[in-house]
Amino acid sequence: MKVLVFGGAGYIGSHVCKYLAQRGHEITVFDNLSTGHAEAVRWGNLVQQDILNPDAIEDCFRQHGPFDLVMHFCAKSLVGESVTSPEIYYRNNVVGTMNILDAMLATSHQRIIFSSTAAVYGNPQQSLIDEQHPRSPINPYGQSKKMVEEMLLDYANAHGLDSVSLRYFNACGADPEADIGESHQPETHLIPNVLKSLVNPSQNVLKIFGDQYPTADGTCIRDYIHVNDLAQAHLLAGEFLFNRSGAFAFNLGNGSGFSVMDVVKAASQVTGRHIDYQIEAPRAGDPPILVANAHQAQQQLGWKAEYTSLEAIIETAWRWHQNENF
Ligand code: UFG
Repeated sequence: MKVLVFGGAGYIGSHVCKYLAQRGHEITVFDNLSTGHAEAVRWGNLVQQDILNPDAIEDCFRQHGPFDLVMHFCAKSLVGESVTSPEIYYRNNVVGTMNILDAMLATSHQRIIFSSTAAVYGNPQQSLIDEQHPRSPINPYGQSKKMVEEMLLDYANAHGLDSVSLRYFNACGADPEADIGESHQPETHLIPNVLKSLVNPSQNVLKIFGDQYPTADGTCIRDYIHVNDLAQAHLLAGEFLFNRSGAFAFNLGNGSGFSVMDVVKAASQVTGRHIDYQIEAPRAGDPPILVANAHQAQQQLGWKAEYTSLEAIIETAWRWHQNENF
């Protein structure tokens, strides 16, 4: 397949590019490098442009296409920032995506895989969240992703544009060969922060946000899913769309919950090091427990996560963080 990957220089996008290229697919990356890394674009050519520039998107489709499939990872994704600057989120995530969809229509491209999030569900009403769970986002980030999901449904009905929205739970881990990994500035995610506190303890003290949640050890529980398992799901979702019409959505998670303290203990075991931390006040907007029911992705896409243990996931991330070069 020829695949156009919006946001292919970012954490998840670059892992998907490597995964696709290893399986013989041809990649073009479209990325403004605002949070992504040029060094992470190694499996296809880079078009350095912005999704807020509709002409640049259309030019890319015309010059480098036609493409069999589009994947879209470009997004602003800091929950806290989305609360204080919602306009950035609606402009980049909603208007930017609309620019992509309109350019697809103008150039007769029909299939897109969209990066959605567990944040579309808001505060969970049950312990295992399936796709039928009400979508009531509690922040503009989740709201912006939900709005795109609605848009995709309307574009499917009106224009026959086919899509799969993949609702990621906690993406984590790194390329097992440590070519690429998770590198955000600022870093807000738990696993990289745990490992950074080991690589550079004087500059990175691990903070644990809240230890009085209604969970066994008082820290939040999440569903950690390896980035290469997400990559596998993207390819399967693309193949799924070749036989289907409409707008679909699937959860991507392992279906098991681990607390923040479980992650710290597993990281200590993998690295063989003691991990110091300090307990801080809870972070605004963190639900106590978020765990996926991902049976739909398994049944309909044929997806099966390979990295089911926290230790195996952390081991790949640790290899990357020890040699992190971007
Ligand atoms: N945490 C810490 N210390 C840190 C970082 C995180 O204690 O340095 C805690 C958080 O408070 C939370 C858990 O670790 O309890 C996981 O936090 P992450 O930031 O790694 O992940 P989130 O669950 O907050 O975020 C993920 C996705 C978001 C998505 C959200 C849905 O990364 O894109 O789930 O709620 F919006």
